[in-house]
Amino acid sequence: MTNQRQAAPEIRLEGLSLSYGGRVIIEGLDAVMPAGRITAVLGGSGGGKSTVLKCILRLLPPLSGRVTIGGQDFYALSPEAVRDWKRDTGVLFQDGALLGSLTVGENVALPLQEHTDLPEDLIEEVVRLKLKLVGLEHTLHYYPRELSGGMRKRAGLARAMALDPRLLLCDEPTAGLDPITAAELDRLILRLKETFAMTIVAVTHDLDSLMTIAEHVIVLHKGRALYQGDLEHLMTFDDPYIKRFLNREPDPFDAHIMEEDLAAATRAGKG
Ligand SMILES: Nc1ncnc2c1ncn2[C@@H]1O[C@H](COP(=O)(O)OP(=O)(O)OP(=O)(O)O)[C@@H](O)[C@H]1O
Ligand SMILES: [Mg+2]
Repeated sequence: MTNQRQAAPEIRLEGLSLSYGGRVIIEGLDAVMPAGRITAVLGGSGGGKSTVLKCILRLLPPLSGRVTIGGQDFYALSPEAVRDWKRDTGVLFQDGALLGSLTVGENVALPLQEHTDLPEDLIEEVVRLKLKLVGLEHTLHYYPRELSGGMRKRAGLARAMALDPRLLLCDEPTAGLDPITAAELDRLILRLKETFAMTIVAVTHDLDSLMTIAEHVIVLHKGRALYQGDLEHLMTFDDPYIKRFLNREPDPFDAHIMEEDLAAATRAGKG
């Protein structure tokens, strides 16, 4: 690990294909997540958004193609460089993914214990600072089960920020939150980006959240990037899938199938 803090990295996906046991989910994806900006990754359920995040986290090697982070081929790094990157990457999982047997403070301390030689009293000081950052300083000794869903997400964000990462990956940061709590979390993510030089990638379904935080948008559909660019152009982009997505209209084909299923179920119920 170099001592000097480096700039927020750009992420590039080049001809990326990803699969699970031979089932291809992403095929020939070319996309850029610009340095120091917030990229929102949109797309239908099951479209492969979390799968792409997994690959960026080095948890799923490409079937073919490359992922470069800060200009380095991510799957060809030395073990030391990988360790440095893990230290430099914060992740906010969908449910906060806190360990239930540890207090909030102990959860936030984990990455510091794993990746630094800081003495315990300094670790506690950093933990308090990170919890303060997300407005949760009073929950240091709480267990995750004692927090609301929104608080758990904020605690997850404090843990993701523990090591001042250059890259922050969030999977559905606002899913399951009421609109006000979701808006607060969005504001927090924006504030973090403005305060710390970070590249942020947020997978989201939430259109309000998209409007608030996205500086760059990638729409995944059928394994590829159907759109990438700024938010303004997305709104006027002439594509039927994107129009339906933004207008929250069901796929006419799926709607047709569902009606048939419902009719069949009703007939079976009467028979
Ligand atoms: N560990 C796994 N093993 C096998 N298949 C998987 C695995 N994880 C995901 N998949 C499959 O990959 C496809 C994409 O899943 P993924 O979780 O990436 O979608 P998503 O876009 O994040 O969806 P959502 O919006 O519902 O979270 C799905 O068809 C899913 O069934
Ligand atoms: Mg997902």
